[in-house]
Amino acid sequence: MKLKIKGQKILGGEVEISGAKNSALPVMAASLLTEELYLKNIPFVQDIFSMKKLIEGLGGHIEINKNNELFINTASIASLEAPYDYVKQMRASILVLGPLIAKYGEVRVAYPGGCKIGARPVDLHLENLKKMGAEIKVEHGTIVAKASRLSAANISFEKVSVTGTENIMMAAVLAKGTTVIENAAKEPEVVDLANLLKKMGAKIKGDGSDTIEIIGVDTLHPVEYGIIPDRIEAGTYLIIGGLISSGLTIKNIRIDHIKNIISKLEEAGICLKIKKDFIKVKKIKKLNPIDIETQPFPGFPTDMQAQFMVMLTQAEGRSIVRDTIFPGRFHHVDELLRLGANIKKIGNGEVSIVGKTELSGAEVIATDLRASASLVIAGLIASGETIINDIFHLERGYERFVEKLQNIGSKIDYLE
Ligand code: EPZ
Repeated sequence: MKLKIKGQKILGGEVEISGAKNSALPVMAASLLTEELYLKNIPFVQDIFSMKKLIEGLGGHIEINKNNELFINTASIASLEAPYDYVKQMRASILVLGPLIAKYGEVRVAYPGGCKIGARPVDLHLENLKKMGAEIKVEHGTIVAKASRLSAANISFEKVSVTGTENIMMAAVLAKGTTVIENAAKEPEVVDLANLLKKMGAKIKGDGSDTIEIIGVDTLHPVEYGIIPDRIEAGTYLIIGGLISSGLTIKNIRIDHIKNIISKLEEAGICLKIKKDFIKVKKIKKLNPIDIETQPFPGFPTDMQAQFMVMLTQAEGRSIVRDTIFPGRFHHVDELLRLGANIKKIGNGEVSIVGKTELSGAEVIATDLRASASLVIAGLIASGETIINDIFHLERGYERFVEKLQNIGSKIDYLE
């Protein structure tokens, strides 16, 4: 499937941000810790349907309705295996590891392969589950984990890991004793999962800080829960508004989740009118070059790196972008060069961008979720027509992206 974009259309109007994909995935996995969950504000994107298929493959039943709600029943789990077919589609399948071993004492998950943004090891997930008493082997590409009952442990992550923290948190809530997680991830999606688990009866303190303390309980009960809005989707539309709109209102934002994105946009010269839960943004005349270095939350998010890179092609001067989390996450660069950008690799995980360069439309290919968003942004500002191949990447994490862009005036459409 391809996308065709006719660039340089001035956009305007309102965009509503959907639920956070990276909250929905661990929250759906948490349904395996109880009998049922009623989830709201779930974005209907490909990754959610992959997780739905995985949970159904384990024996769960999931109903969805048109109001972005999921009803998950996991009372009769019949299998404890997440086969390679599921895991190869979505690395986040690893999130069933913690819940299944905590609730059922065993699990088999295919070892996740790499992906376009670089090596995606899960060693920290496995070594920390071992510290909680799990017996873990890797046989023929499958992680085989067993534990009669997990016991609490003092866990310290040598590297901050979002899904690593989420997996250990979901393992610890039913483990005997008090687990302490040091160097925990502080992303809003980790806090969202902790809030769900607390509502289910878990005893968790310190989520959102470096140190999370979890006192194990015997059971967790079913609840209804609405997840947070997607901070990366919000950041993506803020850039679109700052580059090519006469006035965009982006609604349903948790401002406290995007302070790092806001400060970098303002440093680049984009003026934002920030209200309680929405932001007004419009195109400005001159953009300043800025330097960006990705860091775990509350630092600048790696998931915004590709989108900012497009914006920096329009800044007058030289910008530097470093991705310290995924140094290989630069496949969008080659495609942006095809559109006329002036970008050079200057080190491992580091590029320089010199602007302002007029981008001109061309045929390009999407390589991963956030790279595909950066190519859409480039197509919106480039002269002429841009064709984007392999846009299934886009469908993984942006709900109704084409429809939302059409609603604010862009000339974008699917090409068979
Ligand atoms: C989560 O991935 C997100 N995915 C990613 O979003 C996001 O880019 C990433 O966090 C960083 O913020 C979900 O939440 C589903 P990590 P995750 O474990 O948890 C190294 C998107 O576009 N590491 O925080 O897989 C790893 O190599 C996706 O929505 C180990 O070395 O990332 C990386 O350098 C892309 N060993 C760093 O830690 C491990 O066992 C951070 O990775 C685990 C991670």
